[in-house]
Amino acid sequence: MNQDDDLFLKAYLEDRQGIVEEALQRYIPGNGIPAEIYEAIRYSVFNGGKRIRPILCLAAAEAVGGDLAPAMPVACALELIHSYSLIHDDLPSMDNDDFRRGKPTCHKVFGENIAILAGDALLTEAFFLLSRSEKVMFSAEKRLAVIQEIAYAAGIGGMVGGQALDVISEKSGADEQTLQEIHRRKTGALIIAAVKSGALISNAGKDKMQALTEYGIHVGLAFQIADDILNVEGDSALMGKGTGSDASRNKLTYPSVLGMPAAKEKLSQHIEAAAASLAGFDERAMPLMVMARFIKERKS
Ligand code: IPE
Ligand code: IPE
Ligand code: MG
Ligand code: MG
Repeated sequence: MNQDDDLFLKAYLEDRQGIVEEALQRYIPGNGIPAEIYEAIRYSVFNGGKRIRPILCLAAAEAVGGDLAPAMPVACALELIHSYSLIHDDLPSMDNDDFRRGKPTCHKVFGENIAILAGDALLTEAFFLLSRSEKVMFSAEKRLAVIQEIAYAAGIGGMVGGQALDVISEKSGADEQTLQEIHRRKTGALIIAAVKSGALISNAGKDKMQALTEYGIHVGLAFQIADDILNVEGDSALMGKGTGSDASRNKLTYPSVLGMPAAKEKLSQHIEAAAASLAGFDERAMPLMVMARFIKERKS
């Protein structure tokens, strides 16, 4: 990235992280009974996540000339689903990780039972938020389309299916095609849904929708390939989570299946393809362009 892009990205990320943070504070229940689950939810959501999925949703809305406000509840719902997926991903029966976003994982602090329930609650709250008419400022028809998009991405055809393949293949091993399928589902699907739903709310035409779907596919795969690479080469202090865990659990990752140089090459190819898919857009797609570079070069 050149220096101008760097400065733009830094300011853009800070601004968007700020407004997403503020909206999440409004949408997430502050307290209730039993208190433990509310604490576990807030502990897991307000702990320095990068907010990539909500930011991509807002950036897609902007890229087709839409406003941020109608996209905000959708952006936040995506982050709630993402936060749930991380709580469950870290559980002892899943990846068995002790650190997330620089702090002990949810189950380490609140116990496995509350962590599972906090994840369940976040997933459910996300759809509650998407369905609430006082929060959602677009037509019922569009709302249904967005809910369908996100439900598919979070479910068996997307993230849950991908997570299942991920744990199954720890034992069995697999080829590159299966690996791509795991990554497309476990991580790519929600990122694609983030971009598509932002565009959908903002009345994107067919061609723009197609191009943004293409962007989401490539950025989604790139995001998980970068995560795999960081698990080998990253700085755990910067990332706020452990490194080396993929190898110790025998995970199928791009570096383990293709080797590190080829994994980095794939990452670059997907980022180039994502950038190319934005060719028909004007300067309003600049944030999406810069986010693609960020996903390649991120250190956390
Ligand atoms: C981590 O996602 C898990 C993956 C799907 C690779 P992020 O890197 O977006 O995590 P946070 O939200 O910033 O902590
Ligand atoms: C996480 O993938 C994917 C989901 C939570 C859906 P990983 O297990 O590779 O991510 P990290 O490295 O724990 O963040
Ligand atoms: Mg995992
Ligand atoms: Mg994990």
